[in-house]
Amino acid sequence: MGRNFNLDEIPDMTGKVCIVTGGNTGIGKICVQELAKKNAHVIVASRTPSKGQAVVDEVKESTKNDKVEFMQLDLLSLSSVSAFIQSFKDKNLPLHLLLNNAGVMSCPFTLSEDGIEAQFATNHVAHYYLTTQLLPILEKSQPSRVVNVSSLAHKYIFWNGLVLDDMNDESKYNKHMAYGRSKAANILFTRELTRKLEDSGDKYKNVYVNTNHPGAVSTELTRHNESMTMSVMRRLFFIAPEDGAKTQLYLATSPEIEKKNIKGKYFVPYGDESVPNKHAASQENQTKLWDFTENLLKEKVPGYTGANI
Ligand SMILES: NC(=O)c1ccc[n+]([C@@H]2O[C@H](COP(=O)([O-])OP(=O)(O)OC[C@H]3O[C@@H](n4cnc5c(N)ncnc54)[C@H](OP(=O)(O)O)[C@@H]3O)[C@@H](O)[C@H]2O)c1
Repeated sequence: MGRNFNLDEIPDMTGKVCIVTGGNTGIGKICVQELAKKNAHVIVASRTPSKGQAVVDEVKESTKNDKVEFMQLDLLSLSSVSAFIQSFKDKNLPLHLLLNNAGVMSCPFTLSEDGIEAQFATNHVAHYYLTTQLLPILEKSQPSRVVNVSSLAHKYIFWNGLVLDDMNDESKYNKHMAYGRSKAANILFTRELTRKLEDSGDKYKNVYVNTNHPGAVSTELTRHNESMTMSVMRRLFFIAPEDGAKTQLYLATSPEIEKKNIKGKYFVPYGDESVPNKHAASQENQTKLWDFTENLLKEKVPGYTGANI
């Protein structure tokens, strides 16, 4: 019998500060609600102020928790990520949970503000930058956690492996493969970051970084792939966002993570450890992705000094 994590198992989060990217809708919104219900200080990090603030108002009202706030973050713009990092630092808050949940799936070919294929830019590069720059705060706030929301779609790279060099070539673009690559990147990043943190001795001993597939969840994620079939599939087979949020909330809040020292792992509904595709779990690809992302950030972010782990 597998783990069947229940939202009632989320412990009291009083005093815990949590950032949820893409907290304005779908799975992220449920995470915001559940964390706020348990008294956490929750930052809804979203790109559109009106959408983010609406969720803040709604969650404050329903939970009577005043420590829910909106901070603007557009993952398609590294300068927006830089501004978010600075604004968060300026608050002098600890950080106990960074929930890298925002994502875009199978959109038509576009480039981010920085000229990076949009799914890779949103789902991987911006979250990598955000996480590594907030690490000093996560370190000071230990025990602390990072959850990178991946997908079963990471397995799409089974065909070609991890191909990074041609991602900005529109003629080679396959929107589903590009989603798979970005979601494989979430797992590779989780594993490589964990390895690097462990290699630095005891400094990050109680920083727990994990990743998950939330399930096939009925949300707005399919917005770029709407069809009659998709709508029927969603109604018949997809789970509710409340259930989709369980696995990441397990990784984000369950005391089991610390008790069992769960680090660098991939989890599936509803809180079961699983094994990613071999291309998303190879040391060679972990190193390749890390180096590629570091080089990209050096090129795109003025004054970037590296992940510094
Ligand atoms: N739903 C599923 O079946 C499923 C399956 C596997 C994995 N996942 C993963 O679960 C996570 C949550 O997805 P969901 O299903 O809840 O989808 P969703 O309802 O579409 O929510 C995605 C969230 O990401 C935000 N986002 C997208 N691009 C952004 C950007 N450039 N800057 C800031 N925020 C941005 C969206 O903001 P806007 O509202 O402003 O667009 C929204 O808040 C994603 O990482 C997805 O890959 C979902």
